[in-house]
Amino acid sequence: MRQSIWKAAAQKISFPSLNENISTEIAIVGGGITGVTAAYLLARSGRKVVLLEAGTISGGTSGDSTGNLYAMVDKRLHHIQSKWSKETAANVARSRGEAVNLVEELVKRHQIDCSFKRVPWYLFSETEKKDRTIEKEIEAAAHYGLPVEELHELPLPIKVSTAIKADGQAQFNPAAYVKGLAEKIDSTNCRIFENSEVYHIEKEEELVLSTAKGTVTAQKVILATHTPKGIYGLQTALYPYREYAIAARLNSGDFPDGIYWDTEADFHTSMRTYRKGNDNYVLVLGGHHKVGQEDDYNRFYRKLEQNARRYFDVADIEYEWSAQHYKPADGLPYIGESSDDNIYIATGFSTDGLTYGVLSAMILDDQLNGRKNPWSDLYKASRFTPVKSARNFIKENINVAKQYLKNLPGKAEAESFDEIAAGQGKVVEVDDEKWAVFKDENGQVHCRSAVCTHMDCIVDWNDAEKSWDCPCHGSRFKATGEVIEGPAFSPLDKRNT
Ligand code: FES
Repeated sequence: MRQSIWKAAAQKISFPSLNENISTEIAIVGGGITGVTAAYLLARSGRKVVLLEAGTISGGTSGDSTGNLYAMVDKRLHHIQSKWSKETAANVARSRGEAVNLVEELVKRHQIDCSFKRVPWYLFSETEKKDRTIEKEIEAAAHYGLPVEELHELPLPIKVSTAIKADGQAQFNPAAYVKGLAEKIDSTNCRIFENSEVYHIEKEEELVLSTAKGTVTAQKVILATHTPKGIYGLQTALYPYREYAIAARLNSGDFPDGIYWDTEADFHTSMRTYRKGNDNYVLVLGGHHKVGQEDDYNRFYRKLEQNARRYFDVADIEYEWSAQHYKPADGLPYIGESSDDNIYIATGFSTDGLTYGVLSAMILDDQLNGRKNPWSDLYKASRFTPVKSARNFIKENINVAKQYLKNLPGKAEAESFDEIAAGQGKVVEVDDEKWAVFKDENGQVHCRSAVCTHMDCIVDWNDAEKSWDCPCHGSRFKATGEVIEGPAFSPLDKRNT
């Protein structure tokens, strides 16, 4: 099934869609972990909040994530230490640890049924090649007071050279948690609307957010949309990637709870267990690539399945899904007021988004309540870090510039609609213009402009997710052109044959 195990296992809840014009103090766009936690905290502190979600609560990236919460970071703490400083890396670990603590506190206080538990986190190398990486991470983590130890074997059927174990990290079902928390938000201070996509934000005396059937006028807006909607200079410092996941049901065997990260660089993989009903699952995640820049997207699922079968007695692969993340140029997320007055953002979480999402909500709650937050300067959205960003900035923006060359004549994938199989899409050149042409299972052809409505890059057909993905800043559109995610507000323009 092409769906995350979290969404399949989470409870069903629903909220109305917006059908009127209303005013509030703070409007939050996005009902994932960042938006829902921010709404919860702000409503708890007495602020008037409206949350607008384009689809359903936790129906986006939060519900497609790993379900892992940890103080460490995918990029490794020792890299943050060498790029920034020992103190910065220590604060990253501390701030992330506090975010995990908040999740635990809220789960306990509200009895949220989301399988939350504390588990150890492991980072391991299968060969000696990566031992130094592990050793550096042990040194860094020990320096920050994290409870770590060095191991040379794991409680898994995997031979390892060296591993680091950090106790006290956590796992949960992220979709069940976000939905459970949304239900506990103080409804006298916060209204939640689903299926209410914001397609425009007008800056008047206040900010006016437009949806199909109503508007919200707000003094402040939080864009909890993973990457900010619209055009921001910051987008040159955010690089969109996709990653894949499978949940394999096991015939037999199990392995102890934990977050297991393999450092093998060609196909970085993480693993964890999950129990659903009477069945044991192993989740295998990895295989990242730039959005919209692949020829065969399904190969990632095949490779994950191979990895799962290599170590475990797999009955079948019951769930497959993918998710997007945005890497920041200087290695840290951007959280706080944006270059637009009164618009707050939280982005650049890399693959560590669940913990950073909660941390963002904590920082934004303090900022919007005029309280000092110990980490707001560290993650400040308006920071300018040319030296720390330079390497990634140059590499990634050369890559973006190359994507624009796809708009040159003669760069289409097909000359005619006949070359498109049912269920597939291709970019076709029609009257010197690139069209995104999708042929559905009934053979009906759906034509849209292939020019991304964010900043005019040419979209790419994603054969695994049946979507049009933009290689420049990560906007994604359904096969029929509607926005799925990313900075674009508008669907791909319709074209008539
Ligand atoms: Fe920016 Fe498409 S997402 S041009």
